[in-house]
Amino acid sequence: MEDRRQRKDEHIENYLKSEIITNTLLEDIYIEHNALSDMNMEEIDTSIEFLGRRISMPLMVNAMTGGGEAGSDINEDLSSICEAVGIPMASGSEAIAIKDEESRDSFTLLKDKDIIKIGNLGSERSLEDFIFAKDLIDADIMQVHLNIAQELVMPEGDRDFRGLGENIRNLVEKLDTPIIVKETGSGISKSVASKLLDMGVEYIDVAGKGGTNFIEIEDLRDVETDFSEFYDWGIPTAKSIIDVRSVSEDVFIIASGGLRNATDIVKSIIIGADMAAMSGEVLRYLLHGGYEACEDFLKDLQYKIKIIMCLLGVKNIEELKKVDYKVVGRLKQLLD
Ligand code: FNR
Repeated sequence: MEDRRQRKDEHIENYLKSEIITNTLLEDIYIEHNALSDMNMEEIDTSIEFLGRRISMPLMVNAMTGGGEAGSDINEDLSSICEAVGIPMASGSEAIAIKDEESRDSFTLLKDKDIIKIGNLGSERSLEDFIFAKDLIDADIMQVHLNIAQELVMPEGDRDFRGLGENIRNLVEKLDTPIIVKETGSGISKSVASKLLDMGVEYIDVAGKGGTNFIEIEDLRDVETDFSEFYDWGIPTAKSIIDVRSVSEDVFIIASGGLRNATDIVKSIIIGADMAAMSGEVLRYLLHGGYEACEDFLKDLQYKIKIIMCLLGVKNIEELKKVDYKVVGRLKQLLD
């Protein structure tokens, strides 16, 4: 148990040490200024409906932690900030809490917050584990994470990935909350999205390449093996959003992986996402700047989304989704 808690804290430490910046390719999305925008800033509405509730903007704080020593404080701060800002929050993987009773409080504290709560477990976990994790935080929806790249560079990681699809299908059928299938920084391809849709999955978080780099984070824990040749592995976030949207008009897409500012969020929505999610950047503000800096960062994001909507001449998120865009550069080359 100690090892597992220590690993969680090391993830946070190594995230802050990580240096490699790869590319989301969102900069290859060009959106055009509207000099005759006839918007009134006061009337621009950034809110959306998610799981039957209004949230202040199309953003959630994505899965990070819980269990480790630092995890409890981080979850307490992030959940209070999400409540103040009016956005959902995902807990980090709850796997540790299944066996380690002492670690549970760092997750259950989410229950006291008036936010949409999102639970998190790996795609190899049983239905019973998912029911436990859902009840532990009263989750409105459960994330099922896919993290093959991370497992393969972790000395103690999984090596046998057979049966994940069947397990996801079983969760869709038997769990009484919906599930979000999410990557953890390597992106979702068209063919994986098609398979997930066939399994009945209705929410996909692309978690593409361009932000938090788990291959580097794991590599920093293990000095013996050098995995740096894989740091650039993965599907850039912008490509993953466009590809998943090309497979279905109806699937609810969460854009994540390297989103750092309001422009990234707005571009993600324009190219096909329904909502965006941030992990690393929010954690950086919290741990380097403190509680207020993190809350201000998120509140400013909402205002900056409004500024961009005004510059584009759109008054709500539904209109934002219809804004034209051009794909340039490398992203254009990569798209079919
Ligand atoms: C993560 N992420 C993650 N994802 C998940 O599904 N379960 C988890 O327990 C964790 N743990 C975790 C810890 C830390 C410290 C970080 C920074 C991230 C991955 C996260 O949810 C997200 O998919 C990726 O980080 C990509 O998004 P960003 O960080 O580039 O915005």
